[in-house]
Amino acid sequence: MRRRLAGLLRYAAIGSALAMLGCAHQALTPPPFKPATTTLVLMESVIAHSAEVYWNSVQVIVDENGVTELKPQTDEEWEFVWAAALMIAESGNLLMMPPRAVDDGAWLQFSRSLIEAGTEAAAAAEAHDVDRVFAAGEQVYNACLGCHMRYVPQL
Ligand code: HEC
Repeated sequence: MRRRLAGLLRYAAIGSALAMLGCAHQALTPPPFKPATTTLVLMESVIAHSAEVYWNSVQVIVDENGVTELKPQTDEEWEFVWAAALMIAESGNLLMMPPRAVDDGAWLQFSRSLIEAGTEAAAAAEAHDVDRVFAAGEQVYNACLGCHMRYVPQL
């Protein structure tokens, strides 16, 4: 009985030592990533440029020549649109990274909406489906707008 108790205590001691090591490890290890720019510049570069490529990829132009529908013509052009959509999607993850995330509630939700909208946008481009690209473009726009209305209402 005594030996069993000693054994249990020893396990408990090892357990708590490991737990402490675990905490120390978490506290001391810096995250391996290194943000290369601010949220504002990320918006103005990767995010806004990808969104522009995506939104401009399919267009209906009405002018004196009548109605002209613009859409990617080659697989390579479609791939460009698909890549822009994935940049939008992955940007949601970049926005969640410290120090960019300004809270752990609504900010993360808006970032997740951007990931979801960008993922759908990429699937639409991969399917070469013009109507779906239009719809996904609106979904992306709403993801941008939702976050801006909450965090930068003056925009
Ligand atoms: C999770 C929140 C969030 C999402 C999603 C988001 N933004 Fe932003 N955006 C911000 C914040 C916050 C700022 C202001 C940053 C600052 O001033 O430091 C900003 C600023 C900008 C700016 C700079 C505006 C200016 O006049 O200086 C542009 C452009 C922009 N966003 C484009 C976009 C686009 C396009 C999307 C969607 C594809 C998007 N953003 C999605 C939070 C977000």
